[in-house]
Amino acid sequence: MKFKIILALLLFGMGTTAFAQQKATVAVHNSTEGNVIPKEIYGQFAEHLGSCIYGGLWVGEDSKIPNTNGYRNDVVKALKDLKVPVLRWPGGCFADEYHWVDGIGPKENRPRMVNNNWGGTVEDNSFGTHEFLNLCEILGCEPYVSLNVGSGSVEEMAKWVEYMTAEDGPQAKIRKANGREKPWHVKYIGVGNESWGCGGNMRPEYYGDLYRRYSTYCREFNGNKLYKIASGASDYDLNWTEVLMKNVGRKMDGLSLHYYTVLGWNGSKGKATKFTDDDYYWCLGKCCGIDSLLQKHIKIMDKYDPKKQVALLVDEWGTWWDVEDGTNPGHLFQQNTMRDAMVASLSLDIFHKYTDRVKMTNIAQVINVLQSMILTKDDKMVLTPTYYVFQMYNVHQDAKYIPVDITCESRTTRNERKNEGDRTLNSISSTVSVKDGVTHVSLTNVDLAKSAEVTLNFDKLNVKTVNGTILNCKNVAEFNSFEKPDVIKPAVFKDAKVKKNVLTVKMPAHSIVTLELK
Ligand code: AHR
Repeated sequence: MKFKIILALLLFGMGTTAFAQQKATVAVHNSTEGNVIPKEIYGQFAEHLGSCIYGGLWVGEDSKIPNTNGYRNDVVKALKDLKVPVLRWPGGCFADEYHWVDGIGPKENRPRMVNNNWGGTVEDNSFGTHEFLNLCEILGCEPYVSLNVGSGSVEEMAKWVEYMTAEDGPQAKIRKANGREKPWHVKYIGVGNESWGCGGNMRPEYYGDLYRRYSTYCREFNGNKLYKIASGASDYDLNWTEVLMKNVGRKMDGLSLHYYTVLGWNGSKGKATKFTDDDYYWCLGKCCGIDSLLQKHIKIMDKYDPKKQVALLVDEWGTWWDVEDGTNPGHLFQQNTMRDAMVASLSLDIFHKYTDRVKMTNIAQVINVLQSMILTKDDKMVLTPTYYVFQMYNVHQDAKYIPVDITCESRTTRNERKNEGDRTLNSISSTVSVKDGVTHVSLTNVDLAKSAEVTLNFDKLNVKTVNGTILNCKNVAEFNSFEKPDVIKPAVFKDAKVKKNVLTVKMPAHSIVTLELK
């Protein structure tokens, strides 16, 4: 009897949490003309930092870890599967201390350097221009090369661009002697990085002038059209955007913006794998804070550039937690849970809304650093929940964006910027897109306790089959480790039904679903 009462009480308790359900509706305006989502929204970032390059992408030809010409076979395959459209390199802060000449020619002659930004690690420059640009060719992605303004000269920068892209001439001659006959295709160049901080501690007026000067000498050889990107603001530094737009304007093709989901820059940032419900909701609220931030930066850009000819590129974003216990604090190695996966899906949903101005984003970073796609340890490799979101979402690359209006529950989350008031976090987020006649719907239910019945009302819908994939787990703090690499991975999802113009989806708490309708 006593046992039955306890059981009943337990079930009742669960009924108010685990079995609770919310309802949401999504109006899908699929007769409206939307923008195309540039595939570059799914860009990646690889910095000489910790084991992103060395041990992550690159192990060298002599390594026991299976590799092809020094690139890890497992990692290359995983990145090819991900359809990486663009890869930013060599930094980050590293870029403004990097001297490209040290990274070309016979490896035994390359000088060593101290990575002053990231733990003082000494590196041997064995991964340089050839190794990076050849990797981009292997992956089939555009390279995005961040050039050194902070500690480099105009001449050094100009010669690097010539070395990479000229058919003939003195720099091409050196390149050919180093084994590469044809120039590489290099479109995206960054003229400095975080020039307000690690890239030189400059004021925007001074940097704006430097940008004008340095970028002048980045020449276009043999019709190689360059897309020149100025170092942009961090977070809420609207003045940086204002000054750059006013003083530089159309002399840049793109202006960057960095936004991290981070508790603050001083003190503990919190553990990646241990957090309370309140921490979880704070994190997702913070991540969604980029929505209003984008609006603010875009408003300034619209004032100077109403035709939207200068793009906004969020070339660093993602979660930033304390490093894993026992790892070098300068190497920024962190685990990646279902909470991080949520940050990825919510951020991508937001970026998709602004693609008339936002043309590229680069999550930080691709391997072993911050919110990574992949973690490696010696010869082991793990794909993170964030990897799986990028994989499930890559169907939206180069697809037509369909605007949606979502009606759902919301909650108030704390804001670490006390003077800005609380944040509001919606329980449901979505992206809908169409490509080649196939509609893809992505849905995220952020609620920790409630499942969701989501009703999507399309303007019109003519669908024969629905295929679905879900990313979910028992506990949002779960993650894939080297010992247990498959705790979180996509599974087949069947709880979606179409009737006339209505799609009904029943999704569990804290889950991400992508559906293919055709
Ligand atoms: O991604 C890590 C660092 O964060 C980058 O090097 C820098 O640009 C930013 O501060």
